[in-house]
Amino acid sequence: MKIFNKISFILGDEPIEIDFSKSELKPTTTVLNFLRSYPNFKGVKEGCGEGDCGACTIVLAELNENNKLHYYAVDSCLVFLPMIHGKQVLTVEHLAQKNGKETILHPVQKAIIENDATQCGYCTPGFAMSMFALYKNKFNPTKEIVIDSLAGNLCRCTGYKPLINAAIEACSNKTSDQFQIAENKTVLQLQKISEVQLPIIIEKNQQFFAKVFSLSDALKLKKLNPEAIFIGGATDTALRVTKKHEVIPSIIDISSIQNIKYFREEENYFVIGSGISLEDLKNKTENYLPAVHHILKVFGSKQIRNLATLGGNLGSASPIGDTLPMLIAHEAVIIVKSLQATRRIPINSFIKSYRKTAIQNSEIITEISVPIPDKESIIKSYKVSKRKDLDISTVSACFNLKFSKNKTVEKIILAFGGMAATPVKANSAEAYLIGKKWELENIKIAMELISKEFEPISDARASKEFRIISSKNLLLKFFNDLKMGEI
Ligand SMILES: Cc1cc2nc3c(=O)[nH]c(=O)nc-3n(C[C@H](O)[C@H](O)[C@H](O)COP(=O)(O)OP(=O)(O)OC[C@H]3O[C@@H](n4cnc5c(N)ncnc54)[C@H](O)[C@@H]3O)c2cc1C
Ligand code: FES
Ligand code: FES
Repeated sequence: MKIFNKISFILGDEPIEIDFSKSELKPTTTVLNFLRSYPNFKGVKEGCGEGDCGACTIVLAELNENNKLHYYAVDSCLVFLPMIHGKQVLTVEHLAQKNGKETILHPVQKAIIENDATQCGYCTPGFAMSMFALYKNKFNPTKEIVIDSLAGNLCRCTGYKPLINAAIEACSNKTSDQFQIAENKTVLQLQKISEVQLPIIIEKNQQFFAKVFSLSDALKLKKLNPEAIFIGGATDTALRVTKKHEVIPSIIDISSIQNIKYFREEENYFVIGSGISLEDLKNKTENYLPAVHHILKVFGSKQIRNLATLGGNLGSASPIGDTLPMLIAHEAVIIVKSLQATRRIPINSFIKSYRKTAIQNSEIITEISVPIPDKESIIKSYKVSKRKDLDISTVSACFNLKFSKNKTVEKIILAFGGMAATPVKANSAEAYLIGKKWELENIKIAMELISKEFEPISDARASKEFRIISSKNLLLKFFNDLKMGEI
């Protein structure tokens, strides 16, 4: 059985059902455009339409495994409408409460006013929502956590300091807000929507959009619609709609398949579900895979990481996909499934050419298996970009080193992004270093080998020369970090 053309969600406390067959809306209409067309929801702003400014930030609440609400900020310009099925959608309009004629502001709004953290006001609703998500998740956050939570929002007026102070103030004087008081009711509303886990099929204007809740439904629908693309977080795919104005003919939304969202330790391996959000993965790897945690700290923004998935970063196979050098250095294996079979593909054979992977049309990425690094392995990831926050890599790298006796290199993997049409290993430098002493003289020779190994392109981000110098200097940085005891 299937449900046709209908999605349900809660907007604030109002249950909403959209019947696409009776409305102008398309399945690839973004939540931003939906909200702005809805009466009285103009607080959500469009700045860039591509996840870079945070003006469109809203908060989604969904049920976690304990049936509690998990609140997280997302860029509504990147979210297609069916992706909010079964969730509560909160915008700046929901923050203040009415008590008769009196308006009671939410603590984050009060803090913004009291800290003079708004001037022209265009960015303010987005900042308020990022602060609200932080308010719901952290008590007394450190400044580092506050900055990370606000890094996906741009402000041209305030200079950020008052905004950071406002967030610190709001989150250190927490009281229960109206959302906490209404939590049981919201949970019941969302449970009711989630009771039905049948695929939702939306067919409209020659577009096919399926939202599925199980892997087997995803694979069955893929078999029937071989041209369909999967979307995990849609942070890559949505830009095809918002920036290139493409009409994507066929989409299977896998963002609500719960059993591909996990990180766990098994014998000899960490196994990672392809649907885990990169924010969740960042938090779960801190004590187990520090090089993974480190690269995810500088991946996009919190709003992007809350949506983006590891499967999506692999599926895009971008030469500057930040997780790819890290997966190469960890010697990961990608598990893909079709209705008939399961294949385990080593990461080095997974990326075939520019944005092409070894996945066949009938397959989906389900899991990434990362061998547990042995205690002697030293693994470190690096990212060079114009801005530290919310920027795409110019060059990225992840190195995996193991010594035998007397500081002689027993094993080394030098994986780079941004240096070729695909993420690549510096094979000649690796071969040179094996069996050599880990000392500056040998590192300098390996650096020269790296500079001859790649033919990167010049583009808007950097020149070819800059990339070559950066790549070899990253090896020097690794050497120095190790010497200084920073690894
Ligand atoms: C503002 C912004 C900042 C960004 N910053 C970074 C950054 O710092 N580093 C970086 O590397 N990237 C960055 N990205 C790109 C993007 O966020 C990542 O590539 C992300 O990991 C994509 O995941 P997704 O789930 O959103 O992908 P989606 O858009 O859902 O999918 C991307 C591709 O993968 C395929 N796919 C998805 N899931 C599967 C699956 N399970 N099996 C098979 N195929 C699948 C899809 O069909 C599609 O072709 C950024 C994007 C934006 C908009
Ligand atoms: S409009 Fe800029 S992030 Fe959405
Ligand atoms: S207050 Fe003007 S952009 Fe932030």
